[in-house]
Amino acid sequence: MHFGPSSTRVLITVFALVGMIAAAQPTAAQKVEISVEPSKAGVKIDRNIFGQFAEHLGHGIYDGIWVGPDSAIPNTRGIRNDVVAALRAIEVPNVRWPGGCFADEYHWRKGIGPQRAVTLNPNWGGVIEPNTFGTNEFMDFLDQIGAEAYVSVNVGSGTPQEAAEWLEYLTAGQPTTLAKERAADGHPAPYKVDFLGIGNESWDCGGNMTPDYYLSQLKIYSHFVRNFNPTQQDKQQMLKIAVGPGGDDPRWVDWTQTIMKAYQRHTWSWDINGLSMHSYTVGKWPPSYASVGFGETEYAQILKYTLEMEGLIDKYSAIMNQYDPEKKVALVVDEWGAWYAPLPGTNPGFLVQQNSLRDAILAALNLNLFARHADRVRMANIAQMINALQSMVMTDKEKMVLTPTYYVYKMYVPFHDATFVPVTFDAGTYTHGDVTLPRVDAIAAKDTAGKLWLAVTNVDPNRAAEIEVSFTGAGAKSASGDTLTAPKVDSVNTFDAPHTVVPKPVTASVQGGKLTMKLEPKSVTVISIE
Ligand code: AHR
Repeated sequence: MHFGPSSTRVLITVFALVGMIAAAQPTAAQKVEISVEPSKAGVKIDRNIFGQFAEHLGHGIYDGIWVGPDSAIPNTRGIRNDVVAALRAIEVPNVRWPGGCFADEYHWRKGIGPQRAVTLNPNWGGVIEPNTFGTNEFMDFLDQIGAEAYVSVNVGSGTPQEAAEWLEYLTAGQPTTLAKERAADGHPAPYKVDFLGIGNESWDCGGNMTPDYYLSQLKIYSHFVRNFNPTQQDKQQMLKIAVGPGGDDPRWVDWTQTIMKAYQRHTWSWDINGLSMHSYTVGKWPPSYASVGFGETEYAQILKYTLEMEGLIDKYSAIMNQYDPEKKVALVVDEWGAWYAPLPGTNPGFLVQQNSLRDAILAALNLNLFARHADRVRMANIAQMINALQSMVMTDKEKMVLTPTYYVYKMYVPFHDATFVPVTFDAGTYTHGDVTLPRVDAIAAKDTAGKLWLAVTNVDPNRAAEIEVSFTGAGAKSASGDTLTAPKVDSVNTFDAPHTVVPKPVTASVQGGKLTMKLEPKSVTVISIE
């Protein structure tokens, strides 16, 4: 049986008894048999599912990326070198910018040229927005980290003309007035813009629009906001992403149906390539789960909430299948991640939270889900890259620390554009209080060079898991990789102790082509198999 949505539920029932027995022996390692079928390698796991989201929010941009050229913090044209090096190492495929809710109040002209307008950021603490990090700084940042641009244009308080002119400024190769202005701003060559977000949460902070109202805006923006880059006309065309659902509520079913039904009948004059979906792991609203200093109960509850992602993907994929059976439109999960209570003493509008081992496990479970739905989920952007929500990196003046989530992204680099390989296993169960979860999760893939990789997460914080992996076709000769765990479910990396949650090398035993390995409790392991 292939591990999938329905099998998960069956396995939870079948193995509930096993889980109860095991609960009586908290430290006993249990054997999990995993069967890998490299000959059935199928869909590509788009590297864009490892995308990032960087909004003008708190210290995400200012301090996190931008310190300015005169800063004592080592930087290149104002962009901090330590953060760039860290992000290069996880091969960030794309960055969504400038928001979020911020995008629908962003006016790009205020962020170009020698004189920047000083404005406010009403969504996020009402602080000053100096606009010193604008279009050219963002594109420079992308160039430094080697990522592609996902630009969200302002539909809520902007105009199609403003957005169209922004894209002309960015992409025109011919000497138009806007292209010359870009050249005068330091970049004669047209930029590439790979993804265009048409609004953000237009059913809420993006303008509280009805589905029909948004649809008419979508058609206008899709037609008039053109990419003129000569290299993006036939190949590598800019993909246009429409606002989609934000959760389970029936209003988002209606929204998704309205957009997808219109897409099915769309004419030459408008098109979309992606439908956005936002889903945070919050638990309760307003966010009140602590990001550090919690116990096993909160660990189990948050992981239960995060697995609701699968139901959402299934639900909205089913609607998309109805109107787009060829899966031309990607489901783009362009805001996801854990959203906890703000850290005490921080500005609540800055969404500052710690990042623990729980978040690493949460990230791995979601990345596995995206990979298993790679035929439809071809892009995802975790929120948010630096200093806000479930970040990769945290900074404090000249200091920088890499989070447990960062290390999962690092370990998963081989899965970028890899080919999904089916795995079959009995997940078993982990039970704590009234929460029962699949105990183990696994995905496999062949990387772009043909090497086989396996990622296994042991959700159980108390019991190790003994895995025995068999392969169809040629067996394994050797296997090694990294495992990420820590003493406690809420272990974190801090500026003073940055190495509490870091990957450590592991080697599997191989006999008769089968691989065996002990997975630490509450761990994420990624191994390559020769
Ligand atoms: O990521 C924080 C906010 O969450 C974004 O600005 C918005 O799109 C979402 O509601």
